[in-house]
Amino acid sequence: MQKLSIKGKKELSGTIFISGSKNATLPILAASILADEVKLSKIPLVKDIFTMIELLRFIGIKINIDNNSKVIKLKNKKNIKTLAPYKLVKTMRAGVLVLGPLLTKYKKAKVSLPGGCAIGTRPVDLHLFALKRLGAKIKIKDGYIIAEAKKGLKGTKINFPSISVGATENALLAAIEAEGKTVLSNCAIEPEIFDLIKFLKKLGSKIQISGRKISIIGNKIKINKKISHEVIFDRIEAGTYLVAGALLGKKIILKNINPKILNCEINILKKMGVKITKSKSAITVFKSKNLKKINILTKPYPGFPTDLQAQIMVLMTQANGKSQIKENIFENRFMHVPELKRMGAKVNIKNQTASIFGPTNLTGAEVMATDLRASVSLVLAGLIAEDKTIINRIYHLDRGYEKLESKLKKCKAKIKRF
Ligand code: EPZ
Repeated sequence: MQKLSIKGKKELSGTIFISGSKNATLPILAASILADEVKLSKIPLVKDIFTMIELLRFIGIKINIDNNSKVIKLKNKKNIKTLAPYKLVKTMRAGVLVLGPLLTKYKKAKVSLPGGCAIGTRPVDLHLFALKRLGAKIKIKDGYIIAEAKKGLKGTKINFPSISVGATENALLAAIEAEGKTVLSNCAIEPEIFDLIKFLKKLGSKIQISGRKISIIGNKIKINKKISHEVIFDRIEAGTYLVAGALLGKKIILKNINPKILNCEINILKKMGVKITKSKSAITVFKSKNLKKINILTKPYPGFPTDLQAQIMVLMTQANGKSQIKENIFENRFMHVPELKRMGAKVNIKNQTASIFGPTNLTGAEVMATDLRASVSLVLAGLIAEDKTIINRIYHLDRGYEKLESKLKKCKAKIKRF
């Protein structure tokens, strides 16, 4: 089992090149089931992407990866298996996103119910609600979703009772070859969904967005459609390094990004007193002496993302006074708190709201990662803590952060994997 060792309090300075978005690449890989030939560039070479590639290869898509140019080439073959087995979906719930494309193109699909994970039960009821509205017959048997639409899916109006990124993506993918028009309301509108729609338009799909409403005119995807697509940058990775810069950056420059997409995060950090400048495709962040306390609610985009909640909490431990963060999206996303408290953080939680008292000096400790974003908050805490921090179970990190150690080492952090 690999671990990370971090020697704290080293000032950081340098440039970090942000990778492509894991959460844009995953639905776009699923959408590739609808295409003939796809060339994806700037994909992040992280564990979840390889898991999705393994699933697509199992389904029958021919895939080759060029590691250094970070390009994936996919070729749809004839004999497609419309099955996503438990062993490939249990580790990565985004595997459920193959349901929509398989159903809309092949009229049937058998997909393992994704397990829950550390941050919550992670149900898929909203995904199934949308597919049923499109005419799919769905039954759950032996832990599998068994879906079919013998006469194909039919476009209709679907109003999501609550906002869900994955359910919006699955419904959007299912509507692509459904007959007639589908109008999805109360959709998630994360930048990764816009990137998926950009990809689908290259396939010839007619899609319009206004507010949280997405309209799709279903049509058969023309065969021998060869398309290429460069995935959007990873705004959560960028937000994570913004916090690192705010904690310890003499001067950290983040490149390959679109600062407009990080408006909410930038405004929150500025309110805390962090010095940030931005250009068209870069953000520069400087560590700040007296950080101000702040209260945050996590919300669907364009609100403050739940995926940055654990990270901003580390910054709050250095702010003067009591900050609060209310986790509105997941029911159990404070797994990092007990670990941060072992490093000296003063945090207490009362019905989904964490109160963080600062500034507190954190001290190095041996800690354990529990989920992707919690593990990176332990890295951030290790960077500012006295002495050494050892982080266990860093396979969680490898699911979503590309070359984290080398990006931080290039900024003078004392971090090594062993
Ligand atoms: C996506 O997960 C992201 N994953 C998550 O990022 C992110 O935290 C989440 O959206 C929220 O922004 C990918 O894009 C691969 P949801 P998803 O459906 O789609 C409930 C990371 O760290 N819900 O928007 O699973 C659900 O339990 C990951 O990269 C239902 O009740 O999130 C949650 O409470 C973690 N029924 C809320 O909705 C459903 O059918 C939002 O979930 C679906 C979801």
